[in-house]
Amino acid sequence: MKYSRISGTGSYLPEKVLTNHDIEKFVDTSDEWIQERTGIKSRHIAADGETATDMAAQALQRALENSGKTAQDLDLIIVATCTAHCRFPSIATQLQNIYKVKNFPAFDLNAACSGFIYGLNLVDTMVRSGQVRCAAVIGTEHMSSLIDWSDRSTCVLFGDGAGAVIVEPSNEAGIISTHIHADGAHMDLLYHDAASGKIVMEGNKVFRVAVKTLERIVDETLDANKLDRSAVDWLLPHQANLRIMLATAQKLDMTEEQVIITVDEHGNTSAASIPLALDVGIARGQIKRGEVLMMESFGAGFTWGSALVRY
Ligand code: UT7
Repeated sequence: MKYSRISGTGSYLPEKVLTNHDIEKFVDTSDEWIQERTGIKSRHIAADGETATDMAAQALQRALENSGKTAQDLDLIIVATCTAHCRFPSIATQLQNIYKVKNFPAFDLNAACSGFIYGLNLVDTMVRSGQVRCAAVIGTEHMSSLIDWSDRSTCVLFGDGAGAVIVEPSNEAGIISTHIHADGAHMDLLYHDAASGKIVMEGNKVFRVAVKTLERIVDETLDANKLDRSAVDWLLPHQANLRIMLATAQKLDMTEEQVIITVDEHGNTSAASIPLALDVGIARGQIKRGEVLMMESFGAGFTWGSALVRY
């Protein structure tokens, strides 16, 4: 079998919801400002003691059930995250321990918000080369652990959650192509400050680079496949800011109705945002089997990437 495909999806969101009105109570901001500038209305926040591993385990369980597989079928786990509660062992090996499975590769990768796309790229290559027959790619983030709740410029933006996909070999192209990039020159614009433990971002500068870079990556993806914009059924963007997402949609001549939008309820969940939006888009009945999805992401590093996927 020459290709890989996504055979199942799952996601998990913590129970606690923090609305813009809740945040208004402790920093100088407003629901109006947050919605207008970002599209965010609320976000989910992990419970005390709930970790990125716990959220990943829930999303993985649902993805396995959805694809008709069990953990015993897996022969690869890749977890995209930058918010593991401990530096090692990886969340991926912690999941092996939770599921009592072993003897296959399991590792975490950190490409910030682009981590899930990086994971898809790796898994697609490994499935195509015959090394892997049933892989899990999970994005899980506990962003609330990195938030300075007194900094209004960042605390309104992020949320917690996890999303997972199961990837298997296929005779037809499910994952059509993936494209991943990085440029470390701008790391000062968005980073985790080791001294304070919190996120630092020059939002406006990041915004401008993101819009331009995402325009380029969708062109690159279509060109690589000699496809026209009309071949894409859904734009499934990283959910950082609705204005960035709609700028990319406009570039693709797509309407807001053709964009999977979860940023309003999830905020920016970094590496979890695309698999979460994929699972939600399917559950809502928006994304159907056979449709073509343009996934794209941009994040700290900078890292960026895309995956053209026939679901
Ligand atoms: O996922 C990884 C990639 N990350 C991104 O893609 C994020 C990219 N950046 C953004 O999404 C936007 O830049 C933000 C949402 C972070 C900010 O929106 P903006 O339109 O770029 O606003 P700004 O940073 O230029 O700030 C405009 C004003 C400032 O006030 P002055 O200087 O004009 O008086 C800020 O102090 O808005 C003020 N401001 C706020 N006001 C109310 C900043 N944050 C807030 C806030 N509430 N939460």
